[in-house]
Amino acid sequence: MLRNNATSWGAVAKSFHWIMAALILAQITLGLMAVAWRLSPTKIQLFFWHKSLGMLILALLALRLLWRLANATPLLPADMPRWERSAAHASHVLLYVLLILLPLTGWVINSAANIPFRIFRVIPLPAIVEPDKPLAELFARVHLSLIVVFALILTVHIAAALRHHFVKRTTVLVRMLPERWTT
Ligand code: HEM
Ligand code: HEM
Repeated sequence: MLRNNATSWGAVAKSFHWIMAALILAQITLGLMAVAWRLSPTKIQLFFWHKSLGMLILALLALRLLWRLANATPLLPADMPRWERSAAHASHVLLYVLLILLPLTGWVINSAANIPFRIFRVIPLPAIVEPDKPLAELFARVHLSLIVVFALILTVHIAAALRHHFVKRTTVLVRMLPERWTT
């Protein structure tokens, strides 16, 4: 089943969720390593992969959101309290918003720092702001602050998924897992 239905996520939405989750965790690791590494060719390589993967994540997110709009969204369990529904909805919206803002702020840093860049050495990344060193420094701080917020929401997201599965024993986690694991 490729498409979502009223009770479960389809294979396309599941693939987007898990492939992007893996890429995002790799992306955070690459960012932290790139910043911490001493100035050397390895540091430049780490930034090359960080920036390329970050733009890939932005492109995948656009496709994911289009697919989401073209599909039904599975309903949450009927007995779920109102506050939990609102919290789930708000945290999903925030995760999506942050996944747009993170690459965009990274792109601003790169443009303001006036660094010519080709995504995966192929696609030239156009500058979205004029060269401006103080702006690059400001956006590096914004990028980091967004990561902190993202990490907090992600922790709540994962804790909520595990609570649904192991404590409340709902189908919420199972219906996001690959079908062959659950049948
Ligand atoms: C989902 C996408 C992204 C995530 C999760 C992410 C995450 C991170 C993390 C964890 C760091 C290290 C912490 C810090 O800011 O000091 C970082 C740094 C950085 N990222 Fe990203 N990033 C993303 C996209 C991008 C993109 C698309 C670009 C550029 C095109 C970019 C450029 C940078 C730069 C230049 C730094 C170093 C900032 C500094 O000098 O402190 N990032 N990122
Ligand atoms: C970087 C990592 C992750 C990100 C960015 C992420 C993001 C999201 C987003 C945005 C949604 C909402 C889908 C939608 O309504 O369109 C979602 C759903 C979901 N996520 Fe994650 N997720 C991540 C990791 C995880 C992990 C590790 C788990 C499990 C332990 C998990 C479990 C779930 C479940 C069960 C749903 C479905 C909720 C429902 O049916 O309403 N996620 N995720």
